[in-house]
Amino acid sequence: MTFGSSAATRRQAIPIAIEGLTKTYGRVHALDSVSLSVGAGEFVSILGASGSGKTTLLMAIAGFTRPSSGSIRFGARHVTLLEPHKRNIGMVFQSYALFPNMTVAGNVAYPLRLRGVGRSEIAERVAKALQTVRLEGFGDRAIDQLSGGQRQRVALARAIVFGPDILLMDEPLSALDKKLREQMQIEVRHLHRELGLTTIFVTHDQHEAFTMSDRIALIDKGRFVQIGSPTELYNAPASRFVADFVGQSYFVPVSVASGTASLGNRPLRLARAAAYSVADQFLVLRPEHLRVMSPGESEGDDNILAGRFKELIFQGESYLAFVDLPGGVPIALRLSGHQVEAVRALDIGSTLRMALSPEYSLVLP
Ligand SMILES: Nc1ncnc2c1ncn2[C@@H]1O[C@H](COP(=O)(O)OP(=O)(O)OP(=O)(O)O)[C@@H](O)[C@H]1O
Ligand SMILES: [Mg+2]
Repeated sequence: MTFGSSAATRRQAIPIAIEGLTKTYGRVHALDSVSLSVGAGEFVSILGASGSGKTTLLMAIAGFTRPSSGSIRFGARHVTLLEPHKRNIGMVFQSYALFPNMTVAGNVAYPLRLRGVGRSEIAERVAKALQTVRLEGFGDRAIDQLSGGQRQRVALARAIVFGPDILLMDEPLSALDKKLREQMQIEVRHLHRELGLTTIFVTHDQHEAFTMSDRIALIDKGRFVQIGSPTELYNAPASRFVADFVGQSYFVPVSVASGTASLGNRPLRLARAAAYSVADQFLVLRPEHLRVMSPGESEGDDNILAGRFKELIFQGESYLAFVDLPGGVPIALRLSGHQVEAVRALDIGSTLRMALSPEYSLVLP
């Protein structure tokens, strides 16, 4: 499912440059010197837990919150202290923030009326925006006659109808049920591709951020802990915090002696040997990166782990096998296909040998 192709006219996309942005409330650093460059037409998600500073950052970009220090530029234009209505930003709020006493068309027309656009042009542009979000024919409906997903589309139409330079969205899909939410993620992605608008999207849901974004900025306690593509965050987390936040990770202690990290008595083969430091003490394991070895299979280039098989659980699209490593460290492996059969044949408590490709072998402090 995609949005109609007769969208609002494509505009010249504008980059955003945020430098050293800080916002304090009393002693709370809601934002602590954050810097972020968003390319023209790029889709960047701000991902973080509740209270990490996501909304504060979005509100500062939109002009509703005045930063304590730092700067924001849209292209060459300094906007740090500019009033919100002079920034030409389209915004979608978590709460929809629609006017309940206006029709769908009235809501979408609102930003155009504010800008003094003439009646016939308003009608034309509202129709076009409603078509873009697949709500043609809904103009006369009252807001309370719409489903949650339809309301969210009205909010989107209102945010793009006036041809904004930038689109900001604060957890716009969080009130929707899982299926609709996943459908809207794909639709918003397509809409972004179609309009080419520079977009910043706030979410606390990592799957959502992964599905939608060119890049993700992971925020914790008002600071960015890593900024990168979804694959960079997933496969090369910069810290244990990132590895833990993004996907499921287990941390297995490794021994470090004279610059070599070892698992048991074998030196580890690592993905990024150069990035490794003596402070790195934990091997990061993702359930889907481990492979069950067949009996008698030789070592090859992989790192080998052995543990005690505990349990196999069916989860629909795959299985999860739980294993205790020596020292009692619990881990899990995600299995499908013939690997399941190999594990199903095992007795509880028997030894399971697992291979981890050096490509996925990462040690962190
Ligand atoms: N107006 C305010 N006055 C005082 N403290 C505030 C204010 N607004 C936000 N804060 C604090 O700043 C921090 C960041 O808040 P923010 O709303 O940006 O978080 P968030 O990441 O959007 O969280 P959520 O996912 O729950 O929406 C929190 O500790 C919050 O309590
Ligand atoms: Mg928020």
